[in-house]
Amino acid sequence: MMGTISGGGLVVDGISKRFGRGESVVTVLDDIAFQVAEGEFVAVVGPSGSGKTTLLNTVAGFVDPDEGRILVNGAPVAGPGPSRCVVFQEYAIFPWLTVRRNIEFGMRLRARRRPADERREVADRYLELMGLTAFADALPKTLSGGMRQRVALARAYAVDPEILLMDEPFAALDAQTRETMQEALLEINQKERRTVVFVTHQVEEAIFLADRIVVMSARPSRVQDVVTVPWSGERTHALKTSTEFIALRREIESMLRSTDSTPRVA
Ligand SMILES: Nc1ncnc2c1ncn2[C@@H]1O[C@H](COP(=O)(O)OP(=O)(O)OP(=O)(O)O)[C@@H](O)[C@H]1O
Ligand SMILES: [Mg+2]
Repeated sequence: MMGTISGGGLVVDGISKRFGRGESVVTVLDDIAFQVAEGEFVAVVGPSGSGKTTLLNTVAGFVDPDEGRILVNGAPVAGPGPSRCVVFQEYAIFPWLTVRRNIEFGMRLRARRRPADERREVADRYLELMGLTAFADALPKTLSGGMRQRVALARAYAVDPEILLMDEPFAALDAQTRETMQEALLEINQKERRTVVFVTHQVEEAIFLADRIVVMSARPSRVQDVVTVPWSGERTHALKTSTEFIALRREIESMLRSTDSTPRVA
């Protein structure tokens, strides 16, 4: 548990989660605690099956923790709500709506609804930021995977939630598209700074995008370490091949390797 609970941003305060019952109970999350300041970008890395998605789902309010609590800007999370918006690995956009309508759709669901002309204006801005202006009237099926994830990102930013949650949003993309998307995400987040929790398998992706990285252990998952990414300023593709970047990547990768990956009894 943490001593001080700050007002803004996200507080994950001693979250534990078990699945199953009796003999077959599995502890997935074991007293997970960390904070994300307002406007901060935090990545979560951990071995496969360590409970990253479960953690994100508790923050989203889709899964109830057995112990602990989640605070968003000081308010406890008691279920899904408009303060949090999730971008998934699969394209969670509507195939029957145009790109523009998909972006506007999220804004219609908000408690604080914006008038139609304002929604249009906001959609225009995010279409532009994500390089989608020329595709505003296209249907998703005519777009590549990367372009569809641009729509999902644009929609999430346009909704303007207090916290943006991303669960391996680029995992299904080919390596080159993935890199382009990472740069696109950095760019949009530089212009429209949000509080982000970004789950990924890829240490390289985590370092490239995040201000800090929460490193989870294997199940039952604990926070193994929280690493601050040391450079500020603009991040370009070239950063990934710099000595400091590679050293940090190796350090985190060896942390992940060192965590016991054999299944343990709860
Ligand atoms: N609803 C559920 N009922 C039972 N077990 C579950 C449920 N959801 C998740 N689990 C189990 O919890 C563990 C963690 O799953 P989770 O999907 O959170 O891990 P992950 O770190 O996101 O994995 P991956 O890296 O493969 O995405 C897994 O063993 C999974 O089988
Ligand atoms: Mg997962």
